[in-house]
Amino acid sequence: MTDSTLQNPLTSAEVARIKADFEILERPVGGNELVYLDSGATSQKPRCVYEAEQHFYETANAAVHRGAHSLAVEATDVFEQARSTVASFIGAQPEELIWTSNATEAINLLTYSFSNASLGRGGEAAARFALREGDEILVTELEHHANLIPWQELAFRTGATLRYVPVDPQGGLRYELLDELVTEKTKIVAFTHVSNVLGTITEVGRFVAAARRVGALTVLDGCQSVPHLPVDVKQLDVDFMAFSGHKMLGPTGIGGLYGRLELLNDMPPFLTGGSMITYVDMERAEYLPAPQRFEAGTQRISQVHGLATAASYLAETGMQRIADWEEHLGHLLYQGLSAIEGVRVFGPQDAARIGTVPFEVIGVHPHDVGQYLDSRGIAVRVGHHCAQPLHRALGVTSTTRASTYLYNTEEDIARLLEVVGSVREYFGV
Ligand SMILES: Cc1ncc(COP(=O)(O)O)c(C=O)c1O
Repeated sequence: MTDSTLQNPLTSAEVARIKADFEILERPVGGNELVYLDSGATSQKPRCVYEAEQHFYETANAAVHRGAHSLAVEATDVFEQARSTVASFIGAQPEELIWTSNATEAINLLTYSFSNASLGRGGEAAARFALREGDEILVTELEHHANLIPWQELAFRTGATLRYVPVDPQGGLRYELLDELVTEKTKIVAFTHVSNVLGTITEVGRFVAAARRVGALTVLDGCQSVPHLPVDVKQLDVDFMAFSGHKMLGPTGIGGLYGRLELLNDMPPFLTGGSMITYVDMERAEYLPAPQRFEAGTQRISQVHGLATAASYLAETGMQRIADWEEHLGHLLYQGLSAIEGVRVFGPQDAARIGTVPFEVIGVHPHDVGQYLDSRGIAVRVGHHCAQPLHRALGVTSTTRASTYLYNTEEDIARLLEVVGSVREYFGV
């Protein structure tokens, strides 16, 4: 990314122009203007993204990497051009980006590949991914279930032990325990870049340094960072990173796994079948190098094209400018909600964060808060946000989460604060 934030901050007028690219934000909800504050769950899509998908179907639809006819060649070009665009968006080489359905599948791809290596698949080259009893996998208490349960399953299948970096009562990661938790036994360190609940940004360098010290592999969950911050996998120096397209203005059904090329080419595949082989006989098969080795079956071509269009839209706006805008909105949210009597805000106050803030209206169940906000046109998420262990550590079972994106305005935040301010009175608390 080559944007200069200080000289060129995103202005309210520009955000209003951006908002106009998102047709859905013009629709009313229950007779009110829609205020969409649930981008942490999924983002809205600018017109150019679904028009790109439509254009693909109207002009070039065919299966990729097969067939010599013109449409197949054009579709393959669209598909591989999209790979280059999205790879460059995260600072990777095109071959280092594998298409998956979403971040959940990307992490499962890794854990299944590692468990295949643990069964001896992939021979000597794959031995470094094999886990056995005595080995350890380290995660954090902040994780979304998508970056927790696959590692629990891998530990179960291989006999390895799962450990975690706990959070303090505010939800801050206890970095001071890293030195003690990362030992010669640690083979994998998997952690989130941004908490989907608290919006706090992890100090990636501290995890990477601890992992490198013992030769462990690093796996970053970039689901909430890639849409909101400038992310460069080479600068972050992680071995793998998972992300989802639908949270970064792209279509549903498409996501990605970044991996260092030399690692990907040594990993045994997860899904097997067509389009990922060089040779097959009735007993065995030989596999293509990455990325095709991990892309079995007919691919999601229009979705890939839509995602590349979304990545270009974000890059043209400027990721640092988007991050700064959201930090500003996050600050307004955190301060504004904290100032409302009877509202408790979660997450460390001084942490670096994106524009995501969870809160509780004391005495009112989050589901009631969510419904009340919805009746005023405000969309937020309520529940455990697929992070039950974190909620347990915070001493609650569920929260209400407001999460912003580049199309949210200061007026959206003011409207939320106004309506949250009337919740307790409405419910007679
Ligand atoms: C931090 C984080 N990781 C992983 C996921 C899983 O993403 P998906 O459901 O798109 O696979 C999410 C989705 O909310 C998330 O916020």
